[in-house]
Amino acid sequence: MYETFYKLSGKPFQLNPDPGFYFASKGHNRAYSYLKYGVYQGEGFIVLTGEIGAGKTTMVRALLADLDSDHIVAAQLVSTQLDADDLLHAVSAAFGLPIKDLSKAEMLDQFEIFLTRLTNEGKRALLVVDEAQNLSQGAMEELRMLSNFQLGTRAMLQSFLVGQPELREILRAPNMTQLRQRVIASYHLGPMQRDETRAYVLHRLERVGWKNDPAIAPAFFDRLYEVTGGVPRVINAVCDRLLLRACLDALHAVGVPELDDTVREMRDALGTDTHNTELPALRENRAGVRPVATAALAARLERIEKSMALALDLLQQISGQDAALPKPAAADRRPRFGARPDRT
Ligand SMILES: Nc1ncnc2c1ncn2[C@@H]1O[C@H](COP(=O)(O)OP(=O)(O)O)[C@@H](O)[C@H]1O
Ligand SMILES: [Mg+2]
Repeated sequence: MYETFYKLSGKPFQLNPDPGFYFASKGHNRAYSYLKYGVYQGEGFIVLTGEIGAGKTTMVRALLADLDSDHIVAAQLVSTQLDADDLLHAVSAAFGLPIKDLSKAEMLDQFEIFLTRLTNEGKRALLVVDEAQNLSQGAMEELRMLSNFQLGTRAMLQSFLVGQPELREILRAPNMTQLRQRVIASYHLGPMQRDETRAYVLHRLERVGWKNDPAIAPAFFDRLYEVTGGVPRVINAVCDRLLLRACLDALHAVGVPELDDTVREMRDALGTDTHNTELPALRENRAGVRPVATAALAARLERIEKSMALALDLLQQISGQDAALPKPAAADRRPRFGARPDRT
């Protein structure tokens, strides 16, 4: 909706990990090169950790899109609560192997045949496990066993574990020594820095054809960094909300006051859903965000956006403006309404 008002080709601050919007901050760049190097080693485990919303999934998708798909066959699975018995099943399915009515031994045989065939074709398998902090110890152990498959001295499966900071703790446990010894690259992705926060926002806006509408006051970016701690997901949530508000008020310039109002509104909207209702205080939590806050924030924002749309439609009917205005398309109703005379 606000994209119509600001003549943007799409939503600049979506919450999905779209590699098309990939921004290479210093941290993302360093992590990217390191992980890519890890992938080209072709064996063992690669580990990427970071706070929720730091950009791990986005980075992995960008990395996979950049790999030589003629030689690397990659499969991804997102771990909910996998235990040892589910793991082989999930891995086989991720590589597109049949799993129906097979015993565990048969699945193992099938998997080994699959890996051998790849190796003979000059290819290799890369398994990406996202949210790997959810793997049970048993599942981790199974994964380690799978990574033992070799043809001669060549490893046939490489695994890439992606997860929240707890993953580091899990791997540090004494019974993880064997897996730990097989980690060939690991990286912890921190939040972006102050100047990168600005570049990140501009990158996303330019990606959808932003032509300085709304104009952004220079002081805006410092404040944005303070309130979001440089965590991409929080930046996206705040900027998306800010653009919506600005469009409803028919603004063509935004600065610190609008940002502060938005943050206050989001804080109020979060209400008792979170332990910490003060967005700026999230900064104190090293990467700047609590898992519960981000999830609640996204869900709450969606509900608020929907109820706002309904309320505006209702108001429009009550005030009888529908008759006076040319009938707008559903997608740009709210911008028009936000631009009504009594608000400008
Ligand atoms: N390097 C980046 N470039 C562009 N957008 C990013 C980047 N890192 C994160 N994001 C955005 O931030 C949000 C959270 O990223 P995501 O990869 O899902 O984080 P994580 O997997 O660490 O929880 C997504 O909306 C994503 O588009
Ligand atoms: Mg993720």
